[in-house]
Amino acid sequence: MKNLNVGVIGLGVGEQHIIGFLKSKHIRSISIFDNNKNKVKEIQKKYPIKKIYLRDSDMIHDNEIDIISIASYDNFHFEQVVMSLENNKHVFCEKPICQNLKELNKISNLLKKKKNLVMTTNTVLRCSPRFKKLKNEFENNTFGKVFFMEFDYNYGRLNKITNGWRGKIKNYSVVLGGGVHMLDLLLWLKNSYPKKIKSFQNNICTKGFYNPIQDFVVSLLQFDDGSVAKVSSNFGCIYPHFHRVMIYGKKKTFEQSFQTNNYLSFNSDNNILKETAKEKYPGIYKYDLIDNFISAILTNKKLIISQKQMLNVMQLCLGINKSLKPKNKK
Ligand SMILES: NC(=O)c1ccc[n+]([C@@H]2O[C@H](COP(=O)([O-])OP(=O)(O)OC[C@H]3O[C@@H](n4cnc5c(N)ncnc54)[C@H](O)[C@@H]3O)[C@@H](O)[C@H]2O)c1
Repeated sequence: MKNLNVGVIGLGVGEQHIIGFLKSKHIRSISIFDNNKNKVKEIQKKYPIKKIYLRDSDMIHDNEIDIISIASYDNFHFEQVVMSLENNKHVFCEKPICQNLKELNKISNLLKKKKNLVMTTNTVLRCSPRFKKLKNEFENNTFGKVFFMEFDYNYGRLNKITNGWRGKIKNYSVVLGGGVHMLDLLLWLKNSYPKKIKSFQNNICTKGFYNPIQDFVVSLLQFDDGSVAKVSSNFGCIYPHFHRVMIYGKKKTFEQSFQTNNYLSFNSDNNILKETAKEKYPGIYKYDLIDNFISAILTNKKLIISQKQMLNVMQLCLGINKSLKPKNKK
């Protein structure tokens, strides 16, 4: 049954949202809004678009619209999310859903009040076959006791910061802008929240850029079971855009770097056995979470990225940013 009308805001990665919604038999119509009129024309030519709005608030206040799908710049997400929830829309929002703790609390409180609304975010790496296998392995204790993990968000596209909208955002956070994906993977795999955070940052790669951005952030996180994770948001690296992961367990090691994707273990003679990871990486489309989001609205299906997980990972990103500030400063 086609019964949901969607409004998509922002037509960069938002185009992928449109593709995802068009694949569903439950979507009756898709309408759009983008500040860039050329972008609107381009998208209108490619897809069956019902309506073009001139302002986000016109779309969000329209009683015909059931879902708002947000893919605007990071600094607009909070306002658009709040307006959408207040107007009883379900929300699919790009990461990060907001930029500070006050905003996060406001979203969290609204979601508590609006229990009938579904909201999720696009930390889509969870759909990667390679990472799904890792999740299974964590659940089946394949690694034995895991004592150390490394998650590096290697951005490898510094020009997108210095030449694009990201570099214009005041206090742009590489943790919220990129590290969020790795932190989501970490919390999902560990199924717990770290008790201690220590972080460092620098701006060696963008020094002299008119908008001071700390382009490298690294944190050490310790969990209740004693295990430690190192998570970095490395925007200035000379490296392909890549999600570098190391898992060290007592029984097995997993290494995913640009040139190696291996599981390592010892044989009975204590020689290293190497087994290549076969599952695809990344092996995802940016719209992979949308079908699940629609099912959560229509049939109460469990969200892949639950609201609690979405809020927890945001809290951790903001906790890392807080840990970077000199003591006594909020
Ligand atoms: N989940 C992912 O893997 C993933 C990947 C890329 C980008 N993103 C996120 O998606 C968002 C958009 O990034 P992008 O790469 O598509 O950028 P982009 O520059 O390619 O496209 C953004 C589009 O949104 C429009 N826009 C921006 N603010 C707007 C507003 N307030 N109202 C209406 N239109 C607006 C711009 O005109 C532009 O056409 C960001 O929040 C980014 O973090 C997520």
